[in-house]
Amino acid sequence: MCGIVGYIGDKESQQVLLSGLKRLEYRGYDSAGIVTLGASGEPTSLREKGKVAELEKKILNHKKDDEVGIGHTRWATHGAPSKRNAHPHNVGDIYLVHNGIIENYQDLKTELTKYDYDFKSETDTEVLTALVDYIYKKDGTSLVSAVSQALKMVVGAYGIAVLSVKNPSEIVVARKGSPLIVGLGDDEVFVASDASALVGHTDQVIYMRDGEIGVCTREGVQLYDIEANEINASVEKLELDLQSIQKKGYDHFLLKEIYEQPESLNSTLLGRVSADPLRARLGGLNMSDNEIRKVEHVMVIGCGTAYYAGLEAGYFIEQFLDGVTFSSQIASELRYRSFTVPKNTVALIVSQSGETADTLACLQELKRRGVKCLGVVNAVGSTIAREVDGGVYVHVGAEISVASTKAFTSQVAAITIFGLMLAQAKGVGQMQLRSYIHELEALPSEIEKVLKKHDKEVQKIAKAYAHYEHALYIGRDALYPIALEGALKLKEVSYVHAEGYAAGELKHGPIALIDDRFFEVCYIQDNWLYEKSQSNLIEMNARGAHAIAITNTSKRIAAEKVIRVNTKLELFTPLVFNVISQLLAYYVAVARGNDVDQPRNLAKSVTVE
Ligand code: M6R
Repeated sequence: MCGIVGYIGDKESQQVLLSGLKRLEYRGYDSAGIVTLGASGEPTSLREKGKVAELEKKILNHKKDDEVGIGHTRWATHGAPSKRNAHPHNVGDIYLVHNGIIENYQDLKTELTKYDYDFKSETDTEVLTALVDYIYKKDGTSLVSAVSQALKMVVGAYGIAVLSVKNPSEIVVARKGSPLIVGLGDDEVFVASDASALVGHTDQVIYMRDGEIGVCTREGVQLYDIEANEINASVEKLELDLQSIQKKGYDHFLLKEIYEQPESLNSTLLGRVSADPLRARLGGLNMSDNEIRKVEHVMVIGCGTAYYAGLEAGYFIEQFLDGVTFSSQIASELRYRSFTVPKNTVALIVSQSGETADTLACLQELKRRGVKCLGVVNAVGSTIAREVDGGVYVHVGAEISVASTKAFTSQVAAITIFGLMLAQAKGVGQMQLRSYIHELEALPSEIEKVLKKHDKEVQKIAKAYAHYEHALYIGRDALYPIALEGALKLKEVSYVHAEGYAAGELKHGPIALIDDRFFEVCYIQDNWLYEKSQSNLIEMNARGAHAIAITNTSKRIAAEKVIRVNTKLELFTPLVFNVISQLLAYYVAVARGNDVDQPRNLAKSVTVE
């Protein structure tokens, strides 16, 4: 949520900041701004409502060759998206950009008004800026000391970058609960809240930890703890390349990422499963074979699509693993419940970004209770990846589009491999496990085949159904989480109101919705539930449904449109169907003329509650 960039070196900082903000725009895009300082500290601050492109126009008319600056792209929390609320905020000598939330900002504001501070915006950030300015002036202290003292008074989460007009040779940065990375170049230093802004500039990075403050100069960065004691930073290699954050000829990142699934899934599976010799193994879990054998309960925790990935994998795993209970939890709910953790539980913390605030809070609570927590994360070096006891990277590469697609498929695969590992350790029959691993290995090429074969067909159907304002997605068994995920994808990018339901629940309420304003997406697998699913369709048709069926059966299907997917898979067929609904959501959004990669009101990584 929101993006921070900073630069100090000998390049034109405006251009470095602008290109960084363009890369981070998927994180938040309500407004954007930069401030740069001239050699003697004279500031040029430019802010605009809307996308970074608006800011870019402004920069063109106010070009400077300043060599230090900070910038921000915003996803509004306190105060509407507007120029006034855009960052950087300025009070007195201080300019500041901030990700996160200052929870006690009202109290601080009341205090600061006693010292003649008045506020132009509705933001918590402006209050923090004033607090730093107040301490900076009152104590005549260094900027880092003022920031450190101010942060001690703050309750909340932050990633910040701060400049003083009195000292244009440093940027002070700090983090608690909101990511910040420092990139080291030759006589230049970069700051970013997300690694993608650093790609192409440097591959030497320092992932700041909670509670750390840094002073960045051209020569490098010195880190301090909150008490201003010097600490050593560990420099790591950034594993992200320019290719992976470009559209590569696709119209949108979303389509590119849908199409990347065969490849990204292969990266998830690589070296982790083999049918012959039989092997399902995730390195990096930091668990002995004995610990794995002892597991009796798996708790999967995530938000949105990551939560649905846990639900879906649970359906798969229960097909081959007895004696281990499996539950999938919505992180924002779990964190406030008084829940009991059964003994011998392993928690899987699922997150593409590795920064989701609610998921992170659950991780911290479970660790406090002594529960073994394993990450299923995509973003390397992210907070969740660092705080878990062990875990697995899904390795899907950068996922830029706000709607998650390739991460979902790989999260399901990684959790399922964990289930296969447990099954192997607990002595489940080799024949059965081998057949599932064969299927998993075949999944990438099955997805590839389906994408090639059905793209045009789905595009045509999407155009014909794009005028509906409502949609109902239904499925049974492992197709139920797929219905939830399909509906989420559609609503996110097309703004069509969509609901996902277990098909067996139709008569318990949702069938009342059906009328001419709705279309229905029904997933029907050719298995023991075919007849039941067909009955659901017939009941809906009797009420005037406009159903699209996604199925692998050649039997009769009573739907207005039938997308017949030919797949040799059984267990993992739902993941193949899911690719069709990803395409459907994409093409409906395109037909409605939406901003597909940056849908309204959303941000890629939800680092605040
Ligand atoms: O980065 P995370 O996987 O933790 O994100 C969780 C959700 O915010 C995310 O999946 C969200 O629901 C997506 N926009 C769905 O497409």
